[in-house]
Amino acid sequence: MKDVLENTMLETTSNTRINTPIDYKLVKQMIEKSKLPCVGKASIREIKALINSIEKSSGTKFIRMEMGVPGLPASEIGTNAEIAALKKGIANTYPDIEGLPELKREISRFIKLFLDIDVAEKSCIPCTGSTSGSFVSFLTLGRINKEKDTILFLDPGFPVHKMQLKVLGINQTNIDVYKYRGEKLMEILESTLKQGNISCLLYSNPNNPSWICFTDKELKIIGTLCKKYDVIPIEDLAYFNMDFRKDYSKPGREPHQPTVAKYCDDYIILVSGSKIFSYAGQRIGCIVVSDSLYNRDYPDLLRFYSSSGFGHTLIYGSAYSVSAGVTHSTQYAFAALIKAVNDGDLDFIKEVKIYGERAKIMKEMFLKNGFRIVYDHDDGEPIADGFYFTVAYDGYSGEDLIEELLYYGISAISLSNTGSLRKEGIRACVSLVADNQLPELDSRLKQFHENHKQ
Ligand SMILES: Cc1ncc(COP(=O)(O)O)c(C=O)c1O
Repeated sequence: MKDVLENTMLETTSNTRINTPIDYKLVKQMIEKSKLPCVGKASIREIKALINSIEKSSGTKFIRMEMGVPGLPASEIGTNAEIAALKKGIANTYPDIEGLPELKREISRFIKLFLDIDVAEKSCIPCTGSTSGSFVSFLTLGRINKEKDTILFLDPGFPVHKMQLKVLGINQTNIDVYKYRGEKLMEILESTLKQGNISCLLYSNPNNPSWICFTDKELKIIGTLCKKYDVIPIEDLAYFNMDFRKDYSKPGREPHQPTVAKYCDDYIILVSGSKIFSYAGQRIGCIVVSDSLYNRDYPDLLRFYSSSGFGHTLIYGSAYSVSAGVTHSTQYAFAALIKAVNDGDLDFIKEVKIYGERAKIMKEMFLKNGFRIVYDHDDGEPIADGFYFTVAYDGYSGEDLIEELLYYGISAISLSNTGSLRKEGIRACVSLVADNQLPELDSRLKQFHENHKQ
């Protein structure tokens, strides 16, 4: 692979000759060959396949910002615990459907130490990644009340959640929170919840794709309104504690990441091992159900399940139907990792902070080359630097920008599948960009700006 910038001349439709790092005709050919009707609308996996083919044909490495995968090695505490468990012979035994007792214990401790919230061990139910946690939660919450047939997303959000509801045949609606931060969230959220058809709502915090982090004030609004209208918030903490502006790394010590759990009794929190421990390959996470919700009785569940108890149904009705337990060895890995964090032996924030440092440098490069940050604030405070950020370039829609950047060896995804109303935006993920690629990114962005500025 040639890492050096290959300057070739291109002929644009207007016959203006401009430089692009990758041969224009070649990229165009590969796009046509991919048969994608619109590159900007393609899924992450489709973009990935297209980039792989352009890299192969051109010999030029892309700055890859399309996929939200961890860029760090998996923690050895996890892999060692998993290997030890396998050697002990657990592979032939079905794991307990409720989850490994030591993992349930450590998750309950983790929630207390890092969110200052009490949940019983029995209410912590392992899942095969937060993706299966949301699926199992939607499956159950979508059926608790026959009058409540819709699920609300506080967007922008993770496209897979939207796909899950389509697959489940559950109605969805959304609010793009861009214009509704702080107190403004109250009115728009209440106007939606008061319609009475929403069973639950979901948001991620920090947020994929925009990295906005709801403030304590906003979470109080969400929690209070959920309580008022009996709507269950699902707080997806796939990026647990990764708002690096505050030091959330010390077990049992203030400050704690703000959570909706402080403001309502019935909620679900999703924890994932994928990003915090770079453990995405092993598919592990946990559904944390508040004790009050776990013990609630919903007669409407009997339409589909043999029990009306929420906690029992979630485990023995939904989770059982989906996967009949979670990979045995991986539960040992997750238990060992969470225990090490709880005991103060592993500071996972220190390990993943690199993403924030890299984002700061990359955002500066985009800004100085004519781009702007789309989701740029948290209720008045500048947005944090983390795993993702969103950018736009005036005169381009997000979808067109994705395609245009391909000629410059830069890949990202548009915000079009995320429920965002900011059609000009694209999402950049920092995790796979190596430090030694940063000068190259800078020079490609500079070249892009030279060619496009008005
Ligand atoms: C907001 C959000 N939720 C869930 C996930 C998936 O997490 P997991 O790997 O635990 O299924 C992601 C991954 O990108 C995410 O961004």
